[in-house]
Amino acid sequence: MTTDQAGQDQLEAVAMGSRVARTEGPLKVRGAATYAYEAPADDPLFLHLVQSTVAKGSVRSVDAEAALAHEGVVAVLDHTDAPRLESGENAELQVLQTADVAFRGQVVAVVVAESPEAAREGARLVRVDYDVQEHRAELRPGDPDAYAPEQVNPAFPTDTAVGHLDRALEAAAVVVDETYTTPFEHNNPMEPHATTARWAAEGETDGPRLVLDASTQSVHGVVSELAPILGLEPDELRVRSPYVGGGFGSKGLPHAHDVVAALAARAHPGRPVRLALTRQQMFALAGYRTATIQRFRLAAGADGTLLGIEHAVLEQTSALKEFAEQTAVATRHMYAAPNRRTSHRLVALDVAVPSWMRAPGEMPGMAAHEMAMDELAVACGLDPVELRVRNEPEVDPESGQPFGHRKLVECLRTGAERFGWADRDPRPGARLDGDWLVGTGVAAATYPYYRQPANTARIEALGGGRYAVSIGAADIGTGALTVLGQIAADALGVEVGDIDVHLGDSSLPQATVAGGSAGTASWGSAIVGAARAFRDEHGASPAVGDVSTGTPPDNPAMDTHSLHSFGAHFVELGVNVWTGEPRLRRMLGVFSAGRIINPTTARSQLIGGMVMGLGSGLLEESVRDPRFGHVVTQDLATYHVASHADVPAIEAMWLDESDPLTNPMGSRGIGEIGIVGAAAAVANAAWHATGIRVRDLPVTADKLL
Ligand code: MOS
Repeated sequence: MTTDQAGQDQLEAVAMGSRVARTEGPLKVRGAATYAYEAPADDPLFLHLVQSTVAKGSVRSVDAEAALAHEGVVAVLDHTDAPRLESGENAELQVLQTADVAFRGQVVAVVVAESPEAAREGARLVRVDYDVQEHRAELRPGDPDAYAPEQVNPAFPTDTAVGHLDRALEAAAVVVDETYTTPFEHNNPMEPHATTARWAAEGETDGPRLVLDASTQSVHGVVSELAPILGLEPDELRVRSPYVGGGFGSKGLPHAHDVVAALAARAHPGRPVRLALTRQQMFALAGYRTATIQRFRLAAGADGTLLGIEHAVLEQTSALKEFAEQTAVATRHMYAAPNRRTSHRLVALDVAVPSWMRAPGEMPGMAAHEMAMDELAVACGLDPVELRVRNEPEVDPESGQPFGHRKLVECLRTGAERFGWADRDPRPGARLDGDWLVGTGVAAATYPYYRQPANTARIEALGGGRYAVSIGAADIGTGALTVLGQIAADALGVEVGDIDVHLGDSSLPQATVAGGSAGTASWGSAIVGAARAFRDEHGASPAVGDVSTGTPPDNPAMDTHSLHSFGAHFVELGVNVWTGEPRLRRMLGVFSAGRIINPTTARSQLIGGMVMGLGSGLLEESVRDPRFGHVVTQDLATYHVASHADVPAIEAMWLDESDPLTNPMGSRGIGEIGIVGAAAAVANAAWHATGIRVRDLPVTADKLL
């Protein structure tokens, strides 16, 4: 297929590809960028949540007397007196509507006060009694209540089967049959989830009924989820998020606190209310990555050629709302094998509602797959880079479609060269440097190309060759504001400095979520569509105030090709011979992600993903006490994310390319590919250092002794 047939007339890259500094960087550095909790508000009230201390049951009574007697406390709302919501399918959002408790940490009341301190102290003084029921809060192998969901996130088949896996297993010279586990993990963006809400005062007829300044990855997503349950028309709810301090998926959808803020505002019309989750509350109310138990069976010939792959996943969801992590989906596209089977089974626990966390599915799934591939390489006596190259498929192994731009081998070869892989002694535990055993590991990465069509952009001529570009997108710290300006500049044939980008407001044209690594591709395509419409309608010398809107051009290749990004991670790890402490020594990621529109912001994205992958390899692990359903790792002192001291030398690079089949920019996406596979490269390096094969992430010191 040629570029023209794909309908993706490519933009000439002039601004695209250059190192443009973040447009809003100075505002952020000076503290002048207003985040959701700081949105301008006259005489605000402050909220603090009261959370359930039982894992399952119902609220018998809420005693607010002491709280209401505390100076500054204005009101306490619980399920008996909070404003009513319209019913909706998303049970996570039906907050303070019934006495039911579905998990420990669920919102059971909210204190409204004149200061944040009074609200917090008031919350401490609220006494809640419960009727307690038995609960289940632990994922166990072989759970008899495991069930097959209808599909897995966002809409993939639950199970797939091709060929005859059992026969392949019987015929294979080498079989790797191992089970890997990944823990549940919590998104920890720097900015906690926060919402400032104002309901219109009595008699106020202008403007929206409710304005939410919410820390979200999708202003329009918040409108579409919340307007119906609040009984509002979409244009009666305005959501703004000009600046967002990270999300990693946890701000991709609205959560309970957004609804609580709206309800409290409804109860106090005309008065803004502010609500921020504490770091501790984020561990119950903002979504998280599910725990998984994954069995891999790899059947191969003696030369490492895969004959069959089975990936069977058991994972958890919550009883309140189903989330089915698509853990085995990447396995369907990764390596050639004529016989294959993938499956997902869920256990619904009485725990907080899980959701998206950076590369949901690909992250835990590829961690296990790439650990299993390392074991296969050892079993066949093959170099692990060579094993992967040997199993490179000609076409997508399950759909049979051609790959659009599969450059995995180039990523592996480029990385191996730069990392100095050729000098590697394959024997484990063979290299000692002082008190440190040293090993190296490799793993592959993949992430699908998603492009959301439901986007509209608007372009207006401001005069003097300047243009305003508007779309309700979100810059969650990724650099979207800057990158969209670069795309608009090339689409209009002007300088980056001539473009003003406006985003983060639901009153702007419709935009999809900053998620699925699809923001730039989706919004940028709409901007290109709008620029083309603008040129058609107004020519090259428009009058001030000339306006056009546009949507992304159609892309038939989405239906005919398998479109993915790829990458390869290389890790050198030291393991202390006395303490078992694992320490990263260096890490290299090489990625094929289509055109890189801004090398500066892209490097941050890729390195950020790799650091988070390192975290899941060595550090990140939430721990729940199954007796109480209580998450005991509720802060950054006990939930360990990689910090500066954990990351001595890390390098991200990318292949110089433009993908003709994805969009007019030639880009794919970079938000998630950096995390995928990284944990496996770490675990494989730990094996190479020590000879100890850790199959349960994270690879902590106790497992290496
Ligand atoms: Mo990402 S987990 O798709 O926001």
